[in-house]
Amino acid sequence: MDYRIAVLAGDGIGPEVVAEGLKVLAAIGERFNHHFETEAGLIGGCAIDSIGSALPEATITLCQASDAVLLGAVGGPQWDNPNTNVRPEQGLLGIRKALGLFANLRPVTLHPSLLDASPLRTERLVDVDLLVVRELTGGIYFGEKRHERDAQGEWASDLCIYTQAEIERIVRMAAGLARERNNKLTLIDKANVLETSRLWRSITTNLMRSEFSDVQFETMLVDACAMHLIRRPADFDVIVTENMFGDILTDEASMLAGSLGMLPSASLGAPSNDPPATPGQAPSRQTIIGLYEPIHGSAPDIAGQGKANPLATILSVALLLHHSLGLDQEAQVIEYAVSGVLEAGIVTGDIARPGQAIASTAQIGDAVAARVREGCDNR
Ligand code: IPM
Ligand code: MG
Repeated sequence: MDYRIAVLAGDGIGPEVVAEGLKVLAAIGERFNHHFETEAGLIGGCAIDSIGSALPEATITLCQASDAVLLGAVGGPQWDNPNTNVRPEQGLLGIRKALGLFANLRPVTLHPSLLDASPLRTERLVDVDLLVVRELTGGIYFGEKRHERDAQGEWASDLCIYTQAEIERIVRMAAGLARERNNKLTLIDKANVLETSRLWRSITTNLMRSEFSDVQFETMLVDACAMHLIRRPADFDVIVTENMFGDILTDEASMLAGSLGMLPSASLGAPSNDPPATPGQAPSRQTIIGLYEPIHGSAPDIAGQGKANPLATILSVALLLHHSLGLDQEAQVIEYAVSGVLEAGIVTGDIARPGQAIASTAQIGDAVAARVREGCDNR
């Protein structure tokens, strides 16, 4: 089968980690006889340097014409000038919006051999397996922004706005995912202070009562959640939350897994209404538009040194195969291969124990790709 993948490597460590993701994708192609046609597009700082915009029109067109998008990271100090109105991050936010990717799935799973890579005590980490479903195209990230000066000096504002429809579609997706997991959903908000949070709470509570009464449901304030993620992380199953809370809480949650370099993500939109290949029959492939990226940033301090952990990107490739292409077995083969590499003690510096040998970004990719090819699928 042929698939088209748009590749937006971006800035900093983006290109190095994406190269390893593609290495593993090619190994899957060889082993399962798929043809993945990849095409590169510009996004972020490199796009600003080459055409003056963080999100070229050609990149949007490329993504729209592809089956899925693999993205590295955007940003870096050379584009940090606070006086400019062109920023790398606009590329990332813009592509999420342009493709309608309202749901960002950030699974946090722990590999047994990384238990002591986490700064948390091992006994707290037993049974941690959670999924954060972050709203990705609304809220304070996308509301009106102002920055002005008056007689008293400067002032700025960011509007946080959510509609009922935006809340309902993400809660439906999160609750559906909870049903496939441990059947528990936690809504994170700040309903004691924010009007938007009170709307989230009332809409979610009603929806859970009317459509998902079989799913265990609770609400939690975001400050309390920040604490409980450390105190009793194993109690969470699916967390659903608005854009900015989800951004902050997932960086925190990555510490449970040992490193920001371990966490993949899938950004999904609504299934498209493409007609099935043959009328009356199921589509030959799933038609959920998706963008897949590690949750970490561009880490300019270590870019180009072969130090970056590519596993978050490699695991994002597994999510791509599963959610956008419906290739579940192939996705699982990557996950097993990653486990095998970690069990063999092949690790980058971010997850190495004192005294342990440190592998380079490319060595990790080679090791995962080799296991994919060899077919060591059983843990
Ligand atoms: C993320 C990142 C982005 C975000 C930045 C780079 C704009 O932190 O994907 O979590 O805040 O969404
Ligand atoms: Mg973030």
